[in-house]
Amino acid sequence: MPTATAAAHPNLAFVKYWGRRDADLNIPENGSISVNLSGATTTTTVTYDEVLGQDAVTLNDVVANTPTLTRVSAHLDRVRALAGITTRARVVSHNDFPADVGFASSASAFAALSLAATRAAGLDLDLYDLSILARKGSGSACRSIPDGFVEWLPGWDDASSYARSLAPCNHWDLRVVTVVLPGRPKLISSLAGHRAAPTSPFYRARLKEMPHTLDLVRQALLARDFASFGLAVEREAWSLHAVAMTSHSEGAPWLSGIFYMEPATVRLIRAVQLWRRDGLPVAFTLDAGPSVHLLCEGSSLGAVLAAVPSAVAGTAPQAIVSRPGRGAWLVNENDGAEAPSFSSTTL
Ligand code: DP6
Repeated sequence: MPTATAAAHPNLAFVKYWGRRDADLNIPENGSISVNLSGATTTTTVTYDEVLGQDAVTLNDVVANTPTLTRVSAHLDRVRALAGITTRARVVSHNDFPADVGFASSASAFAALSLAATRAAGLDLDLYDLSILARKGSGSACRSIPDGFVEWLPGWDDASSYARSLAPCNHWDLRVVTVVLPGRPKLISSLAGHRAAPTSPFYRARLKEMPHTLDLVRQALLARDFASFGLAVEREAWSLHAVAMTSHSEGAPWLSGIFYMEPATVRLIRAVQLWRRDGLPVAFTLDAGPSVHLLCEGSSLGAVLAAVPSAVAGTAPQAIVSRPGRGAWLVNENDGAEAPSFSSTTL
């Protein structure tokens, strides 16, 4: 039976994808810049099997629910159409990191699935085609295909919207400390957040500013200029949250705006700004959830890890430390050791 196993890291955006031009094809309104997170990995095996009447999917040893099965099957249909086959597949996927820690696990999931499903079907797609395929499963998944620091060029149609590497993993010894802060169950999914974004009066302003933001972050990253990089990345996170807080979500007419932070989130990000004033080179970014991603260079990692507990007193947060990670890769039975393993620190 044709089978292949692939792995991928989730990624963290420094300039964020928020709002879609085409919701079916996941064409974003704006470009984004990210890094793959070495501290977390999804590993997925796809096996095409003639005896199957429909696709069978397990995630972390649990049979997938219907919405997940439907989404994975739709992605396998894209691969089957490319390969000219109709055989159903068995998909077995494992995350080595807990759910809801603040990583977009759909990114690593659809990146690993795209690589495993195409290889098992006998296809050998290049990074461009693989990134386009992954994007259709989950927008941000296209950024987990290339190595290291990555830019997603928004494009305007299927062929022009893809991600490419800006710089390899060893370009910059940047570290991401994801401080996992528990939240309430999400009131509004990021899918609904994307949909609601254009209702914010600040959305057009964000998009107008975007070419400048992308230039600032790209240049600072390429020059390894941490001070400029940190400020630009923080301002960009505020911009996304300003849009979210002033968006109206169709499904929740009682909600005046979308707010993802918890009290511990606010305490920590205020502390980060004071640490920086006092000479510690550190910055933060936030996604659509309460966890805070701290950014620093390797030389400041010890000081950053030592500082966090004082800012989140009363909670005992877990931290996941990542370096810039490689793009999606094939796992051979003999080289499983290549997959870096997840490690979480209690601060
Ligand atoms: C705030 O992960 O919800 O993390 O990738 O299409 O599944 P898909 O969308 P989703 O969007 C990511 C939102 C974000 C910003 C980012 O990662 O760019």
